[in-house]
Amino acid sequence: MSGIKLLATGSALPQHVITNHDLEQIMDTSDQWISSRTGIRARHHCRGEESHTGLCLEAAKKALERGGIRPHQIGVCLVATLTPDHLTPATACVLQRELGLEEDTVCFDLNAACSGFVYALHTAECLLAAAERKYALVLGAEVLSRVIDMADRSTCVLFGDGAGAALVQWREDYPSIHAVLGCRGDDRVLVVPGVNKREPSVVHMEGQDVFRFAVEALPRCARQVAQKAGITLEEVDRFVFHQANQRIINFAVKKLGVDPAKCTGNIEHTANTSAASVPILLDELVEKGEVKPGDKVLCVGFGGGLTWAGALLEVARS
Ligand code: ACO
Repeated sequence: MSGIKLLATGSALPQHVITNHDLEQIMDTSDQWISSRTGIRARHHCRGEESHTGLCLEAAKKALERGGIRPHQIGVCLVATLTPDHLTPATACVLQRELGLEEDTVCFDLNAACSGFVYALHTAECLLAAAERKYALVLGAEVLSRVIDMADRSTCVLFGDGAGAALVQWREDYPSIHAVLGCRGDDRVLVVPGVNKREPSVVHMEGQDVFRFAVEALPRCARQVAQKAGITLEEVDRFVFHQANQRIINFAVKKLGVDPAKCTGNIEHTANTSAASVPILLDELVEKGEVKPGDKVLCVGFGGGLTWAGALLEVARS
């Protein structure tokens, strides 16, 4: 025994909403095409003063406040992202200053694309075991509107911006989250070029290859987590899957044979927010009372890398 449980969540979405109908006005697409193929009807994009760091701060403050934990109690602060405001300082370092975390808090960003939040949960569990202060802030945040090519209708309609935060506590008598992480290196099917490349830094995706990868990786990873945790899928109270595409989720739910009512998502109004999608959905479910103290929540992310990551996160009883 020893591991983390979820104490509280928070999230933040930019104010500006772009519906599929708005996109119809600026490109050759339709609400019917986008919603039937992906389940997406709207997405939030940062405008004006809104920023990646600002979204992170808002989400983190909510999680701290709801969890009743003071900044000086935090030992680890991680931000999973592929679209930070700066390559350095890491977003987590800016959060250290803005939230007033102690200077010896372990703060860094990590990039495992859409699996990033679950990678960060596992990293936090490992780091907290050795830390003096046993609370961590774990965030997933993206401003994908900055890396989409509005001239490429096959990708730009899919992505949105947002941030989600989880406040977790490590205790010796808590179970591990039994994380299953994996990677199959591929720089063809899902790529955002970096600063050393000549191409523009925009998303390039081979949609059907990503689809094939996702419908295999998601159910496999969910099964492996349950097996590692020694429970059946029926014993899971809630599934929180990366909101990439409703059709991917429908395939996975069918393959797993689990109750679809335990797998509902929010892609309709958020679109795909990569590393932010799992914690934003988690926060929405907590806020609606659909994830409650004592619940076992099986989270799975999958995406660029190619990566996948799953974990069984239990909600602490207050
Ligand atoms: N509006 C209208 N038509 C479009 C659009 C659009 N926005 N985008 C593409 N089309 C057209 C194409 O040009 C093509 O037309 P053509 O037949 O005349 O050439 C036609 O629609 C079919 O294009 P495909 O790319 O074959 O469309 P597909 O049915 O594969 O759907 C999609 C594309 C939705 C991206 C699908 O491949 C998919 O769901 N992939 C999964 C990938 C995904 O969701 N990625 C999310 C990010 S990655 C992640 O988070 C893991």
